[in-house]
Amino acid sequence: MRILVTGGTGYIGSHTVLTLLEAGHEVVVVDNLANSSEEALIRVGELAGRQAAFVEADITDEAALDAVFAAHSPEAVIHFAGLKAVGESAGIPLEYYYNNVAGTISLLRSMERHGVRTIVFSSSATVYGEHNPSPYVEKMEIGAMNPYGRTKEQIEDILSDLGASDPRWRIALLRYFNPVGAHPSGRIGEDPQGIPNNLVPFIAQVAVGRREKLMVFGGDYETPDGTCLRDFIHVVDLAEGHAAALRYLEEHAGVHRWNLGSGRGTSVLEMLHAFEAAVGAPIPYEITARRAGDLPAFWADPSSALADLGWSTTKTVAQMCQDHWRWQKNNPLGYQSS
Ligand code: NAD
Ligand code: WQD
Repeated sequence: MRILVTGGTGYIGSHTVLTLLEAGHEVVVVDNLANSSEEALIRVGELAGRQAAFVEADITDEAALDAVFAAHSPEAVIHFAGLKAVGESAGIPLEYYYNNVAGTISLLRSMERHGVRTIVFSSSATVYGEHNPSPYVEKMEIGAMNPYGRTKEQIEDILSDLGASDPRWRIALLRYFNPVGAHPSGRIGEDPQGIPNNLVPFIAQVAVGRREKLMVFGGDYETPDGTCLRDFIHVVDLAEGHAAALRYLEEHAGVHRWNLGSGRGTSVLEMLHAFEAAVGAPIPYEITARRAGDLPAFWADPSSALADLGWSTTKTVAQMCQDHWRWQKNNPLGYQSS
């Protein structure tokens, strides 16, 4: 298949492009490099033994997208491009709604013009909001709690309306839980700009000596060890979930929603200790105040993805930490290390 991957130089996108190339697909990536480096795609090409095409463009630029559809004739789109920092989204909501929601509308309009009606979209477990009990099931009412999450919810609504308007659309809404880890080669991985917002990138930067200690946000939750529980998923498992969703869409039209998670909760301290085991050294940390907006615990019911896609996670928390650490140790400054 010929596949357009928006946001394909980013963390999850680069791992998915590698999976697609390895499966024999032709890939063209569109990314504005707002939060990524072209070096990621160069390394993906080295690992795959062949390159994806790359176009530096913004998804809000419909003329640029039209040119990509005309030049590369993709048959399907995997849509990762978006801004993703929850805290930042509360400070600059218009940027988030414009980039994520208007950018997706621009992409969908361009797809329609070129008769491409198959799309896999990066949604998030954050759409389940604060009222649903875990494990989260796809049929639950959603209700995100911050502007970032609401961009995902709004895009899900737009895609659902589009699917209802025209039976030719084939749409997968993939709700990711907490992606971590890196390709086992240690050549590609997550490369956050500035201070990492997320747990595992922060732990990794402490382990490599870029930061002094991990701040554990809250030790008094009603959980077994007092720290929050999350459903961590290895990014390579996640990448394979996209390939599985595309295969499903080849056979099935309509709008489909799947959780991509492991179905297991792991606490912040368990994750820290698993990372210490991977590093073979203690990692300094301090328990501090809770972070506003954090939920105590949530995890996926991933049984629909198993039933429909034949997909489930295969990699353990230990592998997530070993692979994440190999990437961080070999690239202490991320892609700038090269
Ligand atoms: P990332 O920032 O590494 O990748 C996103 C990519 O999109 C970046 O390369 C960025 O440069 C690009 N981009 C952003 N706006 C763009 C625009 N207007 N035009 C073109 N390119 C643009 O993030 P990621 O972790 O790989 O996430 C990929 C997708 O998955 C995002 O949509 C994110 O919201 C979603 N998601 C991520 C997580 C997570 O924890 N990482 C969880 C759930 C959902
Ligand atoms: C995990 C746990 C923190 C950093 C976020 C988004 C979500 C999705 C995935 C995109 C929490 C604790 C963290 C630190 C800490 N992204 N923590 N010290 O908040 O579950 O999900 O990323 O869709 O929308 O909200 O992930 O990695 O930020 O936090 O103690 O320095 O680690 O409090 O309990 P989160 P996270």
